Formats: sequence, C-alpha cells, structure tokens
Amino acid sequence: MADVSHRVTAYAGGAKYEVLIGRAILADALRREEVGSYERVAVIASARVYDLHREYLEESLGALGGRSCLILMDDRELNKSYAAAGRFLDQFIEIGMNRKSAVIGVGGGVVGDFAGYCAGVYMRGIPIIHVSTTLLAMVDSSIGGKVAVNLSVGKNIVGLFHQPSLVVSDTRFLDTLPDIEFRNGLTEALKHGLIGERKTLRMLERNDMDSIKHEDRILGLVARSVSFKSKIVQRDERERDVRAILNFGHTVGHAIESFMEYRGVSHGGAVATGIQVMVGISRRLGLISGADADRANRIIASYGLMLEKQACDLDGVIKHMEYDKKNFGDSAKFVLLKGLGNPIINQRIPLNMLREVMAEVIC
Ligand SMILES: NC(=O)c1ccc[n+]([C@@H]2O[C@H](COP(=O)([O-])OP(=O)(O)OC[C@H]3O[C@@H](n4cnc5c(N)ncnc54)[C@H](O)[C@@H]3O)[C@@H](O)[C@H]2O)c1
Repeated sequence: MADVSHRVTAYAGGAKYEVLIGRAILADALRREEVGSYERVAVIASARVYDLHREYLEESLGALGGRSCLILMDDRELNKSYAAAGRFLDQFIEIGMNRKSAVIGVGGGVVGDFAGYCAGVYMRGIPIIHVSTTLLAMVDSSIGGKVAVNLSVGKNIVGLFHQPSLVVSDTRFLDTLPDIEFRNGLTEALKHGLIGERKTLRMLERNDMDSIKHEDRILGLVARSVSFKSKIVQRDERERDVRAILNFGHTVGHAIESFMEYRGVSHGGAVATGIQVMVGISRRLGLISGADADRANRIIASYGLMLEKQACDLDGVIKHMEYDKKNFGDSAKFVLLKGLGNPIINQRIPLNMLREVMAEVIC
C-alpha cells in the first residue's frame, strides 16, 4: 500500500474536491467511500497508457469490482471530437450508465477533457474522476473544471465547466512519459512560476531536466501547481477576471499551433515561445527588468522548452490570433508581467511591437 504524498482540497463552483498526489496510489484512491457509492463506472482510458501500464491498471481498477466498464480511447487530439463524444455517450446507454453512475478518465489532457465533457453532458451531468497520466494533466488540465471537445473548425469549441469529484495524480505513470510530453508539463509549471508560484520558479532554476525528475521534486512541483491553480479557479471559476492570468503565453502559443495546423509543433514548445514573446514585450514596455527577463529565458533554455528558431510567416501566425476566443475586437489583448510573479491582464499591445518581438524570438 502506498501513501499519498500531497493532498490538496480544491474549491470551485460551490463544491470541493480532493487532489491526491503520490506514487502508486491509484488502487487506494479508488477504494474511497465516494467512489464506492457509484453504481456503475465507465473508465475511459488512453489505449496507449493501458498498453504501457496494463498490469498496474487492471490491478488498480480491480478496486471497483464488477461495477466498472473499461472503454479504451485512441487519444490523439483529433479524436477529442464532438462526433466521438456522441459515440461514447451511446456506449454509456448500452452499458447501463444512469444518474448514479460516474466516469473515470485515465490519461493526459486529451482523455481528461473528453471524458470530462462526456460526464458533464450525460444525463445533465454525472461525476468525473480524473486519473492524470501526463505531467501536463497533473499540473494543469485536471484542475479547474474546463472540459471540452473539438469541432472541425477549431479546438475546445464545445465545452462546459464540470468540476471533478476527485483527481488522482499518480506519478508511477510518468515513468513511461516521453521527454517531449514531460517538457509540455514543465512549460505549464513554469507559467505558474512566472505568474506567481515563486517556489516553482526557484525549483526550476535550481534543477535541470535530469534532477527535476527526482520523485520528491516532481511530487512537490505537481502539488504546488495544483494548489496555485485551484486557488485562482476558486476566486474566478468562469474566467471573468483573474483566471485569465492562466492564459499567459497561450494566445501566441495557440496561434503558432493553429498556424502550423498542429503538425510538427509541441503544445509546450508553442506556449514556451509565447511566454518568451510576452516576457520580451514586458521588458520593452519597461514592466520587467532585463535581469528578470533573462532569468525567465534562462529557465526556458536550460530545459529546452522553446521551439527551434525557424523561418516563419509572422503575419500568418498573427492572423491566427484574431480567431483566439480570448481576444476581442481588432487588436489583441494579452497577459503581461509587471515584475516576475505579478501578471497583469487585458493589456493591449501595438501590433508592430508584437511583430518585432515575435521576429526576435521565433525567427
Ligand atoms: N482543461 C484544461 O484546463 C486544459 C488545460 C491545458 C490543456 N488541455 C488540453 O489537454 C490536451 C493536452 O494534454 P496532454 O499534454 O496531457 O497530452 P495528451 O493527452 O495528448 O497526451 C500526450 C501523449 O502522451 C501519451 N501518454 C499519456 N500518458 C502517458 C504515459 N504515462 N506514458 C506514456 N505516454 C503517455 C498519450 O497517449 C499521448 O500520445 C489538449 O487537448 C489540451 O487542449 C486542457
């Protein structure tokens, strides 16, 4: 039996849930009383994670007894779709899911968003438990209740706020996580560091790609991000104001991903590039010192988080920002830093400055 190393209680939307963080904790987590109260449980699991951790998962899911039904998902982003959700919801009916049932999503952010969406709309909403298997899901996507699926015209177009009943971040799954995925998670942890989670910033500075993977450090890194993000969501679940700071670096990041049609570009790489652009603009505007900007850029470089410099069509990337749902009207609004750890939202940036800084960072 393994112990939970960190336990964070998150409050959002008038409810609360626990986030359990530790190694090899899944079976115990699934033996909790509230999980025992669900009459039927649909387990939507990443087929890849299931292949890699079959024995461990079968043993842990055994805690659910005969109440569970395993549904494997090919967790490519293109399968996080509205059409696929319809098929999964039909399966829920076939396996006898009702209002006293629950869904467990086992995987990264794709499975979490997808399983959370299915749970959120099925019979007007049944509980969702996130079992996170990527660092990004642990530090970011499993917290805060945003769940969504994609339409062919864009990502996360159909969605809702559906807070989880429980989140289990079991670091045993990270043993098989490729470095590129690990970096995606580190980028989101760094984002938290730059917008206020100062210990994370210091921890990233003191370590490197090898040493950060030490079990205790990863557990601590996840716990700090969970507690930081959940406090922001507690203040502003629906992103009316303060939650917008979590978009730091993402407007440019999403535009790069969408411009590249999500091919040959990692989410973390695109966001790290977006972070560098925002740090560069904050510095130009005299909001942060050169020393602070260098500090942020050094961390990005030392973990190899940013994209390779390349010849690129900056106007093409900028055009994709107009479609970002976080921007209103003709000119783009961004989150900038007024000193490290102090984000400011709704900052309008002149397009020529955006273009110049992007040219420095990207090309
Ligand atoms: N809801 C939110 O607040 C929120 C926040 C950020 C991102 N997201 C969403 O999260 C998704 C990205 O999530 P992600 O970065 O976790 O990627 P992911 O879910 O696409 O997983 C990345 C890859 O890693 C594999 N994988 C997962 N766990 C593994 C493991 N333990 N070992 C080996 N391979 C493993 C997956 O099969 C996949 O190929 C996007 O769809 C994004 O829109 C949501």
